[in-house]
Amino acid sequence: MEIKEPPLCYCTRTTAAKILNLIEQGKNSLEDIINTTGATTGCGGCDYEVVKLVEQELNKKEHLTP
Ligand code: FES
Repeated sequence: MEIKEPPLCYCTRTTAAKILNLIEQGKNSLEDIINTTGATTGCGGCDYEVVKLVEQELNKKEHLTP
């Protein structure tokens, strides 16, 4: 069953899950994520949430990579 979650970025309908997926697939910069999803490029209202999530995940990943 697909879980419907509200998007993190309403303008581009980007969900946190989508961002996490992209990071998993090897996107490793905030710029990359923004270029791929368009998140934060609309009204900018999601800026804080998107940046926070991406930085948090990239940080985690960094610690996991030997
Ligand atoms: S909600 Fe993300 S740019 Fe508007």
